[in-house]
Amino acid sequence: MSKPKLIKFAEYKNFSNAFDIEDTINKGQWRSVFGNDNPIVIELACGKGDYTLGLARLNPNINYIGIDIKSNRMWTGAKAALNEQLTNVRFLRTHIDHITDFFAPEEVAEIWITFADPQPHKPRKRLSSFKFLNLYRKIAGEHTLVNVKTDSDLFYESTLAQAQQDKLIVLSKIDNIYQLNPVPEFLKIQTYYERMWLEMGRTIKYCQFILGNCESLPLKEDCKN
Ligand SMILES: C[S@@+](CC[C@H](N)C(=O)[O-])C[C@H]1O[C@@H](n2cnc3c(N)ncnc32)[C@H](O)[C@@H]1O
Repeated sequence: MSKPKLIKFAEYKNFSNAFDIEDTINKGQWRSVFGNDNPIVIELACGKGDYTLGLARLNPNINYIGIDIKSNRMWTGAKAALNEQLTNVRFLRTHIDHITDFFAPEEVAEIWITFADPQPHKPRKRLSSFKFLNLYRKIAGEHTLVNVKTDSDLFYESTLAQAQQDKLIVLSKIDNIYQLNPVPEFLKIQTYYERMWLEMGRTIKYCQFILGNCESLPLKEDCKN
């Protein structure tokens, strides 16, 4: 039987690779947390952290931070990273809406958004909405990449529509990743939700684009708010 949520929460707070909302020390200091100058990649809505772990195993010279509000889910990833001695992995429990409290401008080199809720009735809460992309611009560099993996047509199409509206450079757009031959290693990583959607026969989509900065956007002024 899985451990009760409160026990996982208490354990999560004590893990050496896990940070919580109350830990305000890390803004602009992630490189010293990792003890190196390697690039920092964040996974938003990481859940159990499957993608964070998978990418960290593939790329030991890149630092990965999985971010979610649910520590009982991240407990699984944090514990696995400790067991495997993956020194390039950390987890951070926060609302993504507060992400600028934890990262300094240009601190994040790349962003992954994996199987986020498509929010059909609350488009502003969608993690690839104009509001959220602008939030990410505050912690990203001009060339920061955003990777989106999803089963949801709505999330996929609305993300691409937002990228088009912002005149962003879309580097990759794959409507069904398992039709690729071969499937690249970084796309073979499967999350808890991906495995669930695959069992239900859904197709998995992926896109990658350059986030850009406020100056590069058609609606520069809206971006600065
Ligand atoms: C559908 S699950 C996907 C989890 C994981 N990426 C996977 O594929 O297994 C969505 C996750 O997003 C997290 N989430 C949604 N909105 C969030 C927000 N604003 N801030 C932090 N986490 C959020 C939820 O807690 C949940 O774990």
